Amino acid sequence: MKPLLVDLNQCSGGILIKIAITGKGGVGKTTLSGTLARLLARDGYEVLAIDADPDMNLASSLGVENPPKPLADFKDLIQERAGAEGGAFIYNPKVDDIASKYGVIGPDGVRMLVMGTVDRGGSGCMCPASAFLRALLRHLMIREKSAVILDMEAGIEHLGRGTTRGMDLMIVVVEPGARSLETAERIKRLSSEIGIKHLAAVINKGGSGKVNDKLEELGIQVLGEIPFDPKLMQADLEKQAPIEVGGEAVDAIAKIKEKLIEVVEKIRSEEEAGKKSEK
Ligand SMILES: Nc1ncnc2c1ncn2[C@@H]1O[C@H](COP(=O)(O)OP(=O)(O)OP(=O)(O)O)[C@@H](O)[C@H]1O
Ligand SMILES: [Mg+2]
Repeated sequence: MKPLLVDLNQCSGGILIKIAITGKGGVGKTTLSGTLARLLARDGYEVLAIDADPDMNLASSLGVENPPKPLADFKDLIQERAGAEGGAFIYNPKVDDIASKYGVIGPDGVRMLVMGTVDRGGSGCMCPASAFLRALLRHLMIREKSAVILDMEAGIEHLGRGTTRGMDLMIVVVEPGARSLETAERIKRLSSEIGIKHLAAVINKGGSGKVNDKLEELGIQVLGEIPFDPKLMQADLEKQAPIEVGGEAVDAIAKIKEKLIEVVEKIRSEEEAGKKSEK
């Protein structure tokens, strides 16, 4: 099917899924991002998976052997599109060709982009690179049945940069343990400030009982649980994408994907209802 040029926020018909995956370091963000991307692509979605972690390891979980060069390295491009004379910059740079020009297509047709290290200037930074990346997330060459998955850097410090604004849903991955729950709690508290309208959690590495109760207390919906699965370690050692190796964890992520579609469909219909009642 020919790609349509649409504004991601105004797409109608066909479901559009835009999610950002966050959480404490090492909880399983990249495993979940890569596997969800592959599963959605197998369901016929046009998927754009974006590595937004300066550590850059989404490629291995997607099964992409030759990841693209990070966008942040194309300084001239950013300057040309987003930089203006006199040190100012353009708020809405042209970005509609970026995914096709600077991304690669991996297994199951997933398109992948790598952001690289952008500004570390703190929450108030409005430099060209962040304007460029924010615009990229808002306007993309994309088909209607499509998904954008952002694999984020660990922790919450970077969230103030606004790159997750405009996502439908932020998923925080939580493992049994106080620190990862704390991260979830802090994200929940920050969410309105950083423009996150919907937050949900995925529990990883088993032991869900108490974690579930705590998330419920925090008012964070749980999309599902992924058991601890040694097959993921095997995949890692053999440098294979988890989906190629399969196992209980991948089966659990497939269930989470179904739930995710349901939740995003609900968000979309609520948005529609909201728009109608405004009229
Ligand atoms: N359910 C699981 N069972 C067993 N091992 C797992 C599970 N989930 C993730 N792992 C393993 O834990 C390690 C960290 O996972 P992953 O890279 O997905 O986490 P991350 O949150 O993206 O980490 P980082 O914060 O470094 O980006 C990997 O080796 C992965 O294979
Ligand atoms: Mg990661």
